[in-house]
Amino acid sequence: MTDYDTILLDRKGRVGIITLNRPKALNALNTQLLREIVTAVEELDTDSNIGAILITGSDRAFAAGADIKEMHTKSYMDVYLDDFFSIGDRIAAARTPIIAAVAGYALGGGCELAMMCDILLAADTAKFGQPEIKLGVIPGIGGSQRLTRAVGKAKAMELCLTGRTMDAEEAERAGLLSRIVPAADLFDEALQTATTVAEMSLPIAMMAKEAVNRAFETTLTEGIRFERRVFHSTFATEDQKEGMAAFVEKRTPQFTHR
Ligand code: CAA
Repeated sequence: MTDYDTILLDRKGRVGIITLNRPKALNALNTQLLREIVTAVEELDTDSNIGAILITGSDRAFAAGADIKEMHTKSYMDVYLDDFFSIGDRIAAARTPIIAAVAGYALGGGCELAMMCDILLAADTAKFGQPEIKLGVIPGIGGSQRLTRAVGKAKAMELCLTGRTMDAEEAERAGLLSRIVPAADLFDEALQTATTVAEMSLPIAMMAKEAVNRAFETTLTEGIRFERRVFHSTFATEDQKEGMAAFVEKRTPQFTHR
């Protein structure tokens, strides 16, 4: 197992838990932290004993954005040649479902990291935004695209142009969140949700994730065609046989692939 300095990596049952751990910098995503998150996600994603990944931060901050102190002296050539933030695409490419548990600030790259996850649970203390414009830049890890798809043009444009943050209530109304939970319950609720997902058949959960994500990439007709083909293919799995037999026999399914 890899050693990490800026995250904590834990496993509870079939759930892999990544806790961002740069408290003094409000979990600002410097090169090391972002690299360690990606490495840990890939480590868990390729582990057949893991059925869901939970990413969380502290009570005060999920992540307050990319690390401005690390970035501020960079030139165009530095960022163009390095293209570092594209490393984030590897988180979005994970096949295992990822649950984000957000308390406190999720700003800039922190909001973008949360939006890369599949289920987004927020504490009532959470604050979301893309304040990059106040620094003279724009979002760089997908914020202008994912926020717009999640909450629509009107709100995404306002947040990206003014840098205003929205609280959890507003974010939920806008469709950014799966659910708001009281701050004190956030971790337990998120772990319970992750455990529920991890107890499903892993390949079927991967297929469900892929099908939902397809909606962002294609037309309705093509998306439905894709869904139908994947639905058909679930009948080639042992877990479909077991899942449906268990229902008919009024018992809990024992999925093979979990
Ligand atoms: N980068 C580097 N350090 C950061 C940081 C960031 N994004 N956010 C917070 N910190 C550091 C602060 O500099 C401070 O460190 P020091 O004690 O050494 O000065 C420490 O974390 C605590 O922060 P504050 O004292 O500012 O705490 P606060 O409670 O007064 O304010 C905050 C909290 C409103 C989140 C404020 O810290 C803030 O505005 N942070 C920057 C938010 C931001 O602009 N994020 C976008 C970054 S750019 C980006 O993400 C680009 C992209 O899309 C890839």
